[in-house]
Amino acid sequence: MSAKIEVMISEEQILKRISELAEQINNDYRGKELKVVCVLTGGFIFMADLVKRLNLDVKTDFIDLSSYSSGTESSGNVKIVRDLKTPVKGEHLLVIEDIVDTGRSYNRILTHILPLEPASFALCTLLDKPSRRDEELKHLNADYIGFEIENEFVVGYGLDFDQKYRNLPFIGRMLN
Ligand code: IMP
Ligand code: MG
Repeated sequence: MSAKIEVMISEEQILKRISELAEQINNDYRGKELKVVCVLTGGFIFMADLVKRLNLDVKTDFIDLSSYSSGTESSGNVKIVRDLKTPVKGEHLLVIEDIVDTGRSYNRILTHILPLEPASFALCTLLDKPSRRDEELKHLNADYIGFEIENEFVVGYGLDFDQKYRNLPFIGRMLN
């Protein structure tokens, strides 16, 4: 049986916020070419809705990390299971995440990508759970944040529980 899921952030609220973020990004990168890098899998819906609203020259690429073995607990050991397919050097990179939680994924992305010498690097996350950040990663803040949320597990709009619920058009909390 599927779990009951309560709407926390509606589709309408999400799309409104994405339009605001897109406007900010369009202004910040005006006249530049931008490479938008989606962190799989959770970022795929957010990326799709965001890039449609960018009026810049946009390139795309994807990177896949694995940090959660299954369920809701991070394993702590973040591996790159699928690397970028295109060169990074000299590119303006905007990395798209579904959520920044402990910050370990973000940290792994930074240590992987910064040595590749992009022209610039910024992280755009739909959700941020600042209260969950690892002590030594407290300094890691995304450049563009959709919504800050409390310490609770959410699903939908790309985010999963055991690979399920990614297709929900809203962000929801699971009820028992
Ligand atoms: P971090 O490495 O702990 O910052 O976690 C990043 C990844 O954990 C995210 O990209 C998500 O895939 C996953 N994650 C963290 N919190 C949640 C949540 O509340 N729901 C679903 N996935 C989550
Ligand atoms: Mg993820």
